Amino acid sequence: MPESLVTVAYIVAGLLFIMSLSGLSAQATAGRGNLFGIVGMIIAAVATALSPKAGGYPVMAGAMAIGSAIGAVLAARVEMTSMPQLVAILHSFVGAAAVLVGLGGTLDPNVVHEGVAATIHQIETFVGVFVGAVTFTGSLVAFGKLQGLIGSKPLLLPARHMLNIGMVAACVFFASQFLGHPTLGPLLWTTVVAGVLGIHLVMAIGGADMPVVVSMLNSYSGWAAAAAGFMLNNDLLIITGALVGSSGAILSYIMCKAMNRSFLSVIFGGFGAEEGKAPAKADGEPQGEVKSVSAKETADILQEAKSVVIVPGYGMAVAQAQYPLFEVTKILRDKGANVRFAIHPVAGRLPGHMNVLLAEAKVPYDIVLEMDEINDDLPETDAVLVIGANDIVNPGALDDPSSPIYGMPVLEVWKAKTCIVMKRGMASGYAGVENPLFFRDNTQMLFGDAKKMIDAVLAELR
Ligand code: TAP
Repeated sequence: MPESLVTVAYIVAGLLFIMSLSGLSAQATAGRGNLFGIVGMIIAAVATALSPKAGGYPVMAGAMAIGSAIGAVLAARVEMTSMPQLVAILHSFVGAAAVLVGLGGTLDPNVVHEGVAATIHQIETFVGVFVGAVTFTGSLVAFGKLQGLIGSKPLLLPARHMLNIGMVAACVFFASQFLGHPTLGPLLWTTVVAGVLGIHLVMAIGGADMPVVVSMLNSYSGWAAAAAGFMLNNDLLIITGALVGSSGAILSYIMCKAMNRSFLSVIFGGFGAEEGKAPAKADGEPQGEVKSVSAKETADILQEAKSVVIVPGYGMAVAQAQYPLFEVTKILRDKGANVRFAIHPVAGRLPGHMNVLLAEAKVPYDIVLEMDEINDDLPETDAVLVIGANDIVNPGALDDPSSPIYGMPVLEVWKAKTCIVMKRGMASGYAGVENPLFFRDNTQMLFGDAKKMIDAVLAELR
């Protein structure tokens, strides 16, 4: 394929990626957005494979076949609840690719640049290796934390900010060694030190703040890909990397605002907990009595309620309770009750997790509201049904300065007349903090698997 046609194909693919992102910004157009992305990626891969620069077809075909097979099997098998882990591990691949492209390009005797072009190429290579190594190890730690292989508690080493600054300073020194004398040594040292920096930055982040870190690593992986694009002189990789990098950064900023966290402290790590504060109450330290309720009593409360707000969380996703839940919603709405869903920005385990599940169950979009849209209505609500949610409805986030999630806005469900919490036991949520909501006077606990309990409530309502 001539070079000019490859350029046209890259422009078309770039436009499709932009249309894909714009489609993904609303639930109603997300399916179409996804399709644009798939078509754009197919065009990009075919044009790259057929470009005059491409060669070594047997190796390329073998690598693509193995990569596609692993990707297809993983994507087909992954549970919706494990999606963030998959995303984290995919980010680590992008980081590793950027490091390998940088190291490979430095070793390749055919890559020759003169004068200013040489300096620019060396800067691109160094930045690509640095960002790639931070992304690679940071994403591996994020994967470990999300998969439960590493504890979700933040690792807060003494003088950790000085440690981070020290590691960045060391990398600046390696950069000064590399520029002008592009040998492998300084790049390998950068890989090691930036790799340790990535581990340290993400280890310092506590459980409830992981979503912001995942989107931040998403952004880093985009910049790593863009740097690889500069190294390889590939325009499409630069465009795609910049799209991923900037959209990931915007998403992180939006999530930081939603969680009342400072954007800069995410970048520098360790913003999840402060030293010197008393720890929040440990699991198992009872804060009072809990009142449990049966499925029949829950159905009775719902029958009586004129306004109902349903708060779904991670447990609803695990139990796959969204389908019978929508049946419950339909019955209550047919009776004339005002039933709405309240979505916290970090409910579940990935951005938009609850919206996707509710859309799957065909819940109309207009009764699915964001936290900001519904919080003010909760004091006038007769019944709130919390289904498998915990951290996102924890009053301690507002009134307990010792809580690791202090400052995070939450759904203020305790302000409703009655609050029914559906979960299997008294276990804490992802952040590992006890929830005083369960002990409030107007809270009743419906213990059991969310799907089984919703089925039971549905049977009573029918
Ligand atoms: P969590 O705080 O994790 O609480 C989920 C609750 O669901 C648990 O306490 C668990 O209690 C219950 N549960 C589990 N399986 C259940 C089942 N089959 N039936 C009924 N209940 C079940 O969830 P959340 O309130 O949605 O908050 C999300 C948390 O995850 C936040 O801390 C957030 O920061 C973090 N996080 C979010 C993301 C994104 S982007 N959304 C990514 C990573 C981390 P029992 O075991 O007692 O049933």
